[in-house]
Amino acid sequence: MRVDIVTIFPAYLDPLTLSLPGKARESGLLDLRVHDLREWTHDRHRTVDDTPYGGGAGMVMKPEPWGEALDALATPNTTVVVPTPAGRPFSQALARELATRPHLLVACGRYEGIDQRVLDHAAARPDVAEVVEVSLGDYVLNGGEVAALAIVEAVARLQPGFMGNAASLAEESHEDGLLEYPVYTKPASWRGHDVPDVLLSGDHAAIASWRHEQSQRRTAERRPDLLAAASLPGGVEVRPSV
Ligand code: ADE
Repeated sequence: MRVDIVTIFPAYLDPLTLSLPGKARESGLLDLRVHDLREWTHDRHRTVDDTPYGGGAGMVMKPEPWGEALDALATPNTTVVVPTPAGRPFSQALARELATRPHLLVACGRYEGIDQRVLDHAAARPDVAEVVEVSLGDYVLNGGEVAALAIVEAVARLQPGFMGNAASLAEESHEDGLLEYPVYTKPASWRGHDVPDVLLSGDHAAIASWRHEQSQRRTAERRPDLLAAASLPGGVEVRPSV
């Protein structure tokens, strides 16, 4: 998968060269490139913003540099991802969807946002398959960079062959619509807190059933909104504990 990130703060994306996405880059699963939007400005001050038509506070990102960035970076099948609090809520399902795309171009806005015509023009280009506006959550960040980090990390780790252990992908929070069960490691007893007996029993069926029940219980307590959407096999009664 190819990922281009366009930003006025390329250094913000440095963490993507570390850790798991860094490994994906080295192994060739992820062809990730970070670009400075100011490469596509032509004035002495490398201007990327201007005052909003209609008035109001803040500045708006100018269309011209974004248009040239797309001209330079769009491939025959590009998905333009625009982080914005006005976008589609990011979720594991959306990460899975984006992970199937051959080329993501993440356009990180700053200030009050990007001139709307950039998105409208991108959506009409033959080399752009879709424009997806994505929100990390109902809060406001200073720009799209932090959202881009989260989106690219969530998508990169879904690339086939990326995770060392495919089972760990399947078992984690949100993959089956439930939150993950609690996990423990050695020692079996620590500062008066014991690992649940069932996990020491060697009875794999009992362990699987305990874990499923714990997942359901946690989800009911912390995210009851998810339970409505999840399938609930097994007939375990779910009641929030007090
Ligand atoms: N840019 C600013 N706030 C954001 C948010 N909540 N999600 C995605 N991009 C953003």
